[in-house]
Amino acid sequence: MENLVEAIKQLKKEKNALIMGHYYQRSEIQDVADYVGDSLALAQQAAKTEADIIVMCGVHFMGETAKVLCPEKKVLVPDMQAGCSLADSCPADAFEQFINEHPGHTVLSYVNTTAAVKALTDVVVTSSNARQIVESFPREEKIIFGPDRNLGSYINAVTGRNMLLWNGACHVHEQFSVEKIMELKRQYPDALVLAHPECPQAVLAQADVVGSTAALLKYAIAHSENTYIVATEAGILHEMRKRCPQTTFIPAPPAAGTCNECNYMRLNTLEKLYQCLRDESPEITVDPAIAAKAVKPIHRMLEISARLGL
Ligand code: 13P
Ligand code: SF4
Repeated sequence: MENLVEAIKQLKKEKNALIMGHYYQRSEIQDVADYVGDSLALAQQAAKTEADIIVMCGVHFMGETAKVLCPEKKVLVPDMQAGCSLADSCPADAFEQFINEHPGHTVLSYVNTTAAVKALTDVVVTSSNARQIVESFPREEKIIFGPDRNLGSYINAVTGRNMLLWNGACHVHEQFSVEKIMELKRQYPDALVLAHPECPQAVLAQADVVGSTAALLKYAIAHSENTYIVATEAGILHEMRKRCPQTTFIPAPPAAGTCNECNYMRLNTLEKLYQCLRDESPEITVDPAIAAKAVKPIHRMLEISARLGL
C-alpha cells in the first residue's frame, strides 16, 4: 500500500494532477487526496484549480460538475460505475416533463444530479447552501426543488416555504434506523446526534444538529468535548476522528440487512486511483451543448455562495 501511495504521488506530480476526494471515500483515498471536502467545496476547488488533470474521487455527478466547470481540463474518476441512487432517481426527461407541468416555477436542483438535469435548472444547490439559496428568493417565489424529497422537506420546514418537491432519495440515508438511534441515545444519554438532511424526517427529528458533511464536521471540531452519534455515510467518521482524536463518534446503525456505507463511493480504491492516473482513464465527458447550459446554474450557485461567504 505504501508503494502504491508513493506511485500515486509521483504520477500526480509528473502530470500536474489534483486529486480531490469526498468525505465518503475510503480512508486511504482521503489520506492521499490533495483536497477532501463536501460537494460544495469540491465544486469550488475544481472551479479554481490550475492543475491540468482533476482526479475526482467521488461519484460520477461530481466528476461531471468538475468537467462542466473546467471543460478544457481532463477530469478522471477512478471507477466510472460510481453512480448515485439519488441522481438516478431523477431522469432528465421525466424532470423536464415535471417542470413543464408546473410552469412559472424557479427550478432548484441539488448537486446530486446529472449534467442533463442541471441543464434544466436555474440554480444548483448543495446541502451546505440550500437553505441560504432558497432564502435568497422572495417568499412568494414559486420553486421546484429536486431530486431529494428529504432535503427538500427539511428546507421547506426550516424556511417556511412550500417548494414543490421531486420524489427522489438516497438509498444510504433512507436506511438509518430510528429505533436503533433511540437505543443508542439511551445507551449514551449525553451523546448528540449529527444528521445529514438527506435523512428522512423521522431521523432528523432525533438530531441535535442537521447539516452537510462539512457542517457536521465543523460542529464536531468546535464542540469536541461531546460524544456523537453520526447519521450520514460512515466515511465522514475518518476525518472526524482525525480532527478530534479524543472524541467518541458512533456511526448511526442502519436498519437490519442494510448498510450505512455508499456502495458507489466505495467503488474507488487506491489501485483504481493509481491506474486512472497512469492511463488517464476513465475520463468524464459531457456533451458540450448540455455543458453550456449546465454551467450557468452551477456558476449561479458559486456566485451566491461567495456572496454569502459560504
Ligand atoms: P455533502 O457532501 O454536500 O454533504 O453531500 C453528501 C452527499 O450525498 C454526497 O453524495
Ligand atoms: Fe448518492 Fe447517497 Fe451515495 Fe451520496 S451517499 S453518492 S447521495 S447514493
